[in-house]
Amino acid sequence: MLIRTPDDLGTPVAELAALPAVRRVVMANPRDYEVRYAINPHMLDGSGALREVDRDRAREQWRGMKAALEAHGIEVDVVPPLDGHPDLVFCANPALWIPAEAAPDGEPHLVRSRMTHEERRAEVAHLAEHLSVRGLEIEGIEGPADRFEGSGDGLFHPGRRLLWGGVGPRTELAAWAEIGERFDLPVAAIQLVDEHYYHLDTCFAPLDETRCLWFPPAFHEAGAALVRAYFPGAIEVGAREAREELACNAWCPDGRTVFLPDGCPETRAALEAAGFEVVEVACGEFKKAGGAVYCMKLAVC
Ligand code: ARG
Repeated sequence: MLIRTPDDLGTPVAELAALPAVRRVVMANPRDYEVRYAINPHMLDGSGALREVDRDRAREQWRGMKAALEAHGIEVDVVPPLDGHPDLVFCANPALWIPAEAAPDGEPHLVRSRMTHEERRAEVAHLAEHLSVRGLEIEGIEGPADRFEGSGDGLFHPGRRLLWGGVGPRTELAAWAEIGERFDLPVAAIQLVDEHYYHLDTCFAPLDETRCLWFPPAFHEAGAALVRAYFPGAIEVGAREAREELACNAWCPDGRTVFLPDGCPETRAALEAAGFEVVEVACGEFKKAGGAVYCMKLAVC
């Protein structure tokens, strides 16, 4: 079922079926990471050249993020690199994980993405193959949607059986309609309006049942109204930290701890004032490709 206005859900979010906190993720080996092509505006500098990545520093930052997650009890499984695929490190994008509790058959599912850009298409089978050993149901989009970028545009409401689905340059509404129907799952469809925020996870991070981080100018008004209705304690991020530091590409696995991209002192202060524990993750080399903390992992709880 697609949710377009606050009344469509028909029941308060707090009464939807419960989902467990995330304890396990996959991250992709950053061996081949660099900026080799530009498929979003963050990948180019002011003069229109590809951003230059310090590859040793990137690997160090990736290891730092993995260690930070593990130190907080998150289990991290590593996907091997894929030759010539620098963006595989953003492994939230090639698939959408549907936890067992969210699927009508009580089994976890992995829905393969339909990547918008040729440069990233081979990542999909590579990731699915790595995860297939878990005995998962792996399936694709069967309907008309040509673009669907998995957990980059699909984020579960913390603890509740509601999916937030970004509609924009990377994912079509038809993909959310299909997923909503197949899994009998409410999907709050959010139209994105600014090319710097090309995935929902670049401007929106659910934190707990009533609070999220977000950057409202990236949302069409109808989507903004949904966020305000279902997250009465939504925390707004400032323009500089949202765009330059990807502050909204944060991740809160447990409703308490927020893994936040570094360089976001204002967002950090707002989160701490709201009672969250903030763990800063250095990820500047990855911001050069338009990604940060949230999209460098795929939750597979
Ligand atoms: N260069 C990658 C792309 O444009 C970055 C992806 C970052 N992922 C994300 N969910 N924000 O596809």
